[in-house]
Amino acid sequence: TKIAVFASGSGSNFQAIQEAIVRGELDAKIELVVTDKPDAFVVTRAEKFDIPVFSFTARNYKSKADYEQEIINVLQEKEVEWVVLAGYMRLIGETLLAAYPYHIVNIHPSLLPSFPGKDAIGQAMDHGVKITGVTVHFVDEGMDTGPILSQAAVEVVEGNRAATEERIHAIEHVLYTKTLKQIFENKINIFH
Ligand code: GRF
Repeated sequence: TKIAVFASGSGSNFQAIQEAIVRGELDAKIELVVTDKPDAFVVTRAEKFDIPVFSFTARNYKSKADYEQEIINVLQEKEVEWVVLAGYMRLIGETLLAAYPYHIVNIHPSLLPSFPGKDAIGQAMDHGVKITGVTVHFVDEGMDTGPILSQAAVEVVEGNRAATEERIHAIEHVLYTKTLKQIFENKINIFH
């Protein structure tokens, strides 16, 4: 299965997926990393694995449709079948959604529908929840709103954001790979 990973930051989820592929646990190939942050650490990680990167700067385009069309051109050139968002900090627009219907997935560090949007871990801790978690879901036009594919719970380490974050990331790296495997093997049916 040919995939593209979209990321704006560190790229630890990108790396976890790539390492699972290298270990033979996930039958897929990351054809491309797409980033809107040319200086993000994910670019360095991608180079280490010899994976091509398409980076763009949104403000250099007239509209979201313009840069998404350029992304689509590269995705199609590489025959990408699935778009995997991993810390991509932009809403996906109608152009990209129409090109990849129900073939875009995202990972979010909370038990959705609680705490969508930015800094979900901070939101959860500020709210004082004892259990938070991780969600993998299909992407639609909303912010972290698409149909849920999988979830895992994580216990909050009270008063310790860094430790909570570490737990969440560790779970993310396992859950994303596992869920992608199920999707690619047609083992998840969201149309109950
Ligand atoms: C993850 O927590 C993911 O759930 C969220 O953004 C973060 C990305 O981390 N959407 P990384 O760049 O994969 O390390």
